[in-house]
Amino acid sequence: EKTLPLRGYKILISAGGTKERIDPVRYITNDSSGKMGHSIAEAAYQYGAEVTLVTASTLESSKAIHRIQVDSASEMFEAIDERFEDVDILIMSAAVSDYGVADAATSKMKKADLKEPLTIELQENPDILKTMGAKKENQFLVGFAAETNQLEDYALKKLAEKNLDLIVANEVGKEGTGFDSDDNQVVIFTKEHQRLDIPKTSKTEIARRILDKVIEELDHHS
Ligand code: C5P
Repeated sequence: EKTLPLRGYKILISAGGTKERIDPVRYITNDSSGKMGHSIAEAAYQYGAEVTLVTASTLESSKAIHRIQVDSASEMFEAIDERFEDVDILIMSAAVSDYGVADAATSKMKKADLKEPLTIELQENPDILKTMGAKKENQFLVGFAAETNQLEDYALKKLAEKNLDLIVANEVGKEGTGFDSDDNQVVIFTKEHQRLDIPKTSKTEIARRILDKVIEELDHHS
């Protein structure tokens, strides 16, 4: 059906910036708001998909969207890994922290007990998307790449390294697009290195355009 092009599809979407706990009241995070991922989840639902949203964001989501709230990258990993086998499409729009705190404190750290300078040891988090890319069967995989320079080179490199079907690249560090803003400007690359530029528009519209491209690719994917 034209108006419900994703009817019958199960789609898993991640959103937001993960939080890496230092102690019960402190954490390390990033500037991602979750707007892009939440917009994709809403658009996918409007296209008729069965949507699961694994989010680290506090933004709202429709009741019809199955929402799983997570904090850390490892919680996000578990939530996605658990469901990956059962979905048709995975869209990783979350800004996953590359590092987590090696030994998070279980009670609040007290200044009096700390040495100066204070050192917090970080350890590498698993790359969720790369792990799913390595074990995918028929799932269609979409990744994001936020870059400040050499957008195309880095995006295509990630597409290949993570075994993706499509990558959405956006230039960050520019006013009015990217992380916390309502608008975005992206370039989509397919596995076949086809390039589609989406000029600056709302994240709602970008979400639809990304899904339209996914649908077009799905038509000759299976
Ligand atoms: O390598 P880079 O972090 O730039 O790749 C970005 C893509 O990989 C995004 O789709 C992001 O959600 C995903 N990612 C991930 N797990 C990580 C880091 C990034 O799934 N630990």
